Amino acid sequence: MIKAAVLGYPIAQSKSPIIHGHWLKKHGIDGSYVKQEVAPKNFSAHIQEMIAQGYAGANVTVPHKHAALEIADTVSSRATAIGAANTLVFRDGKIHADNTDGEGFINNLTQGAPNWNAGMGPALVLGAGGAARAVLHALLDAGVPEIILVNRTRARAEDLASVFGRRVMVADWGDAEQASAAVSTLVNTTALGMVGCDPLHFSCAELSSNTLVNDIVYNPLKTDLLRNAEKQGCATVDGLGMLLHQAVPGFEAWFGARPQVDPELRQKVLAEL
Ligand code: ATR
Repeated sequence: MIKAAVLGYPIAQSKSPIIHGHWLKKHGIDGSYVKQEVAPKNFSAHIQEMIAQGYAGANVTVPHKHAALEIADTVSSRATAIGAANTLVFRDGKIHADNTDGEGFINNLTQGAPNWNAGMGPALVLGAGGAARAVLHALLDAGVPEIILVNRTRARAEDLASVFGRRVMVADWGDAEQASAAVSTLVNTTALGMVGCDPLHFSCAELSSNTLVNDIVYNPLKTDLLRNAEKQGCATVDGLGMLLHQAVPGFEAWFGARPQVDPELRQKVLAEL
């Protein structure tokens, strides 16, 4: 039996076992994928124990995404650029670290709005945390000509922009609505609007109806941002697909089959939110 797991602290909230369990069944693979709660001080020893037990690899989430990079023998270029790993593959006693968040983000946009990058103009990204870093890397890699980055704490946006060079420009959080008039893509990478968090106050009145709007928040599935953007005539893509698509490369590396993000999987995960 092929074994994998997701490690976090806490980990109860993780939907990854539902995703991988769905695909294991669909592909008829003799495999298991479980949640494991691992405190930061035990992370390295836990990984060594997994390797000794013959695990194929693991997903890692908060707070292990940086430690996962540090214990790896090899690191993908995208994980290096993002400064964090979410996927580990164990092979021949060695650890390979990757970050699939950006791929998940782009594949979600492409599945939800297939022509999102045809004749693409600038993008506006809200937020400058870990999720924003993966989104910026992916948008630049996909050929977005320029990104306007806004964050409540401007200095954090400036730090992040400096990692990516001249195609990322920082504007004030208070100027975001005005800046939104001239963009092809708008992405919220903050947790604002998520169940249990503060609301995101963002008027979509300046948006052109040609702007694609994506929220990486997926609970609720239809956030106020997406609702307001739709009233403005914009196409929208919700955030659930990013969670599903980011899981694809890990499944393929561990279990040997490339899975599909199908409607049945979306329904299964939605039912557990
Ligand atoms: P993640 O890894 O999920 O991106 P993070 O690194 O904690 O999480 O980043 C959270 C993001 O949400 C940041 O951009 C944060 O803004 P600050 O850098 O100013 O803290 C943003 N955020 C969180 N709460 C916010 C709020 N009430 N208003 C505006 N932005 C907020």
